[in-house]
Amino acid sequence: MSNPLEARIAPQLEEFIREGTYKRLNFLESPQAARVQMEGRGEVIILSSNNYLGLANEPSVVAAGKAALDRFGAGTASVRFICGTFTIHRALEAACARLVGTPAALSFGSCWNANEAVPGTLLTEHDLIISDQLNHASIIDGIRLAKAITKCQTAVYQHGDLTDLDTKLTAARDRRVRMVSTDGVFSMEGAIAKLPELIELCRRHEAVLVVDDSHATGVLGKNGRGTAEHFGVVGEVDMITSTLGKALGGGAVGYEAASAAVSDYLTQRARPQLFSNALPPTVAASSLASIEFLEAHPERVAQLRDSARYFRDQLLGLGFQPLPGETPIIPVILGETAAAIRMSDLLLAEGVFVTGFGYPVVPQGQARVRCQISATHTRDDLDQALAAFRKIGRQLRLI
Ligand SMILES: Cc1ncc(COP(=O)(O)O)c(C=O)c1O
Repeated sequence: MSNPLEARIAPQLEEFIREGTYKRLNFLESPQAARVQMEGRGEVIILSSNNYLGLANEPSVVAAGKAALDRFGAGTASVRFICGTFTIHRALEAACARLVGTPAALSFGSCWNANEAVPGTLLTEHDLIISDQLNHASIIDGIRLAKAITKCQTAVYQHGDLTDLDTKLTAARDRRVRMVSTDGVFSMEGAIAKLPELIELCRRHEAVLVVDDSHATGVLGKNGRGTAEHFGVVGEVDMITSTLGKALGGGAVGYEAASAAVSDYLTQRARPQLFSNALPPTVAASSLASIEFLEAHPERVAQLRDSARYFRDQLLGLGFQPLPGETPIIPVILGETAAAIRMSDLLLAEGVFVTGFGYPVVPQGQARVRCQISATHTRDDLDQALAAFRKIGRQLRLI
């Protein structure tokens, strides 16, 4: 039976397939790791996961989740202020704040939720939020929602362009609160935000700086404390949002970290807190264990940096032109979406899983395959992946 909705989306799905942009899901039969078992394909090297530190299957992280299941049960059965907050949530939030160097933190089901909560809860119709042009979709949607809910003013500044940001902050002098939002590490580029300059500019304008450190937590800085540690400015960012579902591998947890007053206000008023279940205790406990693992093993972060540098240098040696950078996100631009998806398919046939990204995830004409390195990739893993890149790169006449 067809209705107007089905009638509209069915041909669109067919069009995605025709134009080569349809995303096929690959099913895994083993935990996230440097090598996984992929249904129908056998062992595959994963070069497309955010499991930067390899903690998704770290024994202490998994054991902590199991212990919490026994101690606290499976679910939270309601929202925190109604039916009680587990002590494991409090411990996790203290660890998040400690990790990024803020007085307090508040956990959310995901960083998407945290990014949705921050502007919509904290801003009013007298305020402005300015967002970097290449910010993550969750920040963009959080801002759209904030605009609809609060009637705050919104603006976008050119990617990483502090002159443009300065101009826009100056033009908005009359706004009571001006919030500036940036990714710490831009997920599709691997570029790092110019944090010291952003802090200085925001201080000069008395603007509030919010950094989404999802791809920097556990990755940047000597101890993996994120973009602020990378630049030696821990404790100087007003507000950080991040996820524990990437480098820290503990599961789908997001958090905001800021002053005690901001975290308390979000506890009182943030709708994703007030109207949604808290994280399952298993996830909270695994996330806490992953932070503790990071604190005890800074050498994992150094290992990640070394492996990322090796892979980038070898790709350059083969004749590819990855976007320059110093993070474990290494994108190779291919142009059209179909080209990126084709390269990804051919690499997968060689046993290497690298996702192709096209419009609208990245700008039109800048489709890419994005390699992501993990500290747990061995040199063998990386060399095998590089051999596949060489073979497919020659086949497609890219090198
Ligand atoms: C920069 C950034 N922010 C937020 C998110 C969302 O994180 P989560 O999976 O915890 O919702 C992502 C995930 O892709 C991200 O890359």
